[in-house]
Amino acid sequence: MPQSLVSLNAPLLRLQPVSVTRKMAAALPELRAAASKNGLKIHHLGAGYPHPEVTDPRAYLAHQTRYLEHLAQTQGQVDPAALTEILRESFSYTDTLGPVSTRKLFTEVYGRDWNVTMDPEDLIPTVGASGGINLMCSLFERPGTPVAYITDAPTYAGFLARSMLCQHAAIYSVEMDDQGPIMERFQAQIRQARADGYAVPFYYTVPDGHNPAGFSFSPARREAILEVARDEGVLIVEDAPYVYISYAEPQHRPQPFFAMDPAQTVHLFTASKIGFPGPRVGFAYSKAKVAINDGERTLTELLLTEASADTLFQNPYALRGFEAMLVDESFEPLPSLWPVAEGKLVVYRENRQILLDGFERNLGPHRDRFHWTESDAGFFSVLTFRESAIAVDDAFIARLVTEHGVVAIPMYDFYPPDAKRRDPRIGLDQIRVSFCFSESQGEARRHDLRQAVDALCAAVLSLSA
Ligand SMILES: Cc1ncc(COP(=O)(O)O)c(C=O)c1O
Repeated sequence: MPQSLVSLNAPLLRLQPVSVTRKMAAALPELRAAASKNGLKIHHLGAGYPHPEVTDPRAYLAHQTRYLEHLAQTQGQVDPAALTEILRESFSYTDTLGPVSTRKLFTEVYGRDWNVTMDPEDLIPTVGASGGINLMCSLFERPGTPVAYITDAPTYAGFLARSMLCQHAAIYSVEMDDQGPIMERFQAQIRQARADGYAVPFYYTVPDGHNPAGFSFSPARREAILEVARDEGVLIVEDAPYVYISYAEPQHRPQPFFAMDPAQTVHLFTASKIGFPGPRVGFAYSKAKVAINDGERTLTELLLTEASADTLFQNPYALRGFEAMLVDESFEPLPSLWPVAEGKLVVYRENRQILLDGFERNLGPHRDRFHWTESDAGFFSVLTFRESAIAVDDAFIARLVTEHGVVAIPMYDFYPPDAKRRDPRIGLDQIRVSFCFSESQGEARRHDLRQAVDALCAAVLSLSA
């Protein structure tokens, strides 16, 4: 029987381009095979995944079990009926807001860390930070009228993928210097978008450990961004997976936007990096108010309606597991999440230093040819070729893998379409280098990462000679 084609009368549907990270993931098995045929070891500097050495879930699961038993105690004994009830609730349908206990505990601990009094009622559970991005976009796309998002050039691939799904949404991007977005461009892009007939609800950014730009915004630039956002009536969507993956001394940690002005900000927290990505725990938090046609509403009211039509039911077991992360061995609320972060930072701090030392050792004598960012947070550094003849395109990356065994991500595709129209060569002189992931642990991890950085440096020196 010939296969029949399902015919959809959907002339407006179109296939979205595949992101560079997905393209790399798909191409990798073949490139790896070619590299190993050439007798090369594969060096991981591409993936932005949490390191296996700090993501063993066994202690997390054991602590969660003890916590649930603690909740089911009466008179010092685990009450089997109460435990069954707690577990049943954890595996049942739950409200779109999820368990109130999780929101209360999180706002208490997180608020303490950032010196913000947070109201659990303003906290909407999301499916990771990705779910927060999705909710924000769908909320403002819902009316069906032209909408423009301001974002950085380059910006997070997941935001590009989501925002470009909507055919009446446009991106107006803003080039950056080493402090953050260039302020004149920031304001000009908001005004240009409006002049072009778009509503401009928000600016999306990753101010701490920017993915992919590999640096954190300076405090002065954050102030300047806030001032323009207030003047122009534009929200700041602050995607914050790396606030705790911070290498700055405590007194030098920059304030996130939501601590500077929660009424202007939508803060997207995720447990993916400080905890685990699999359970997909995240929250959107905001004190913003929005004028809509029947009056003023809090943004979180609108987000909740959006979430109740989208996510509908949260995963209560995942949220309870996250809640357990917020209490100590005696089941008291943690004073801070920083000690939890420290458990991860022991590896990331060391890896970052190995990367930067390797760049200095190998490329330091060639600073006229190369520049690299020194991230104060996050997983990435961006290596830039100062010579204009280099094109870090897919063919370049394929040679990097097959001839040198090095996996890293080209930057060009992290630039939104409007930035590419302004400068067709944008990002073609850059590679995103990640230092978060390797297959090995302990001393073998250090050794492998040193080898990886040396191999990358040798490769870029030879490919740009
Ligand atoms: C900037 C940024 N936003 C969002 C995500 C995805 O986060 P989540 O796992 O919470 O969806 C990542 C993950 O790498 C990221 O770097």
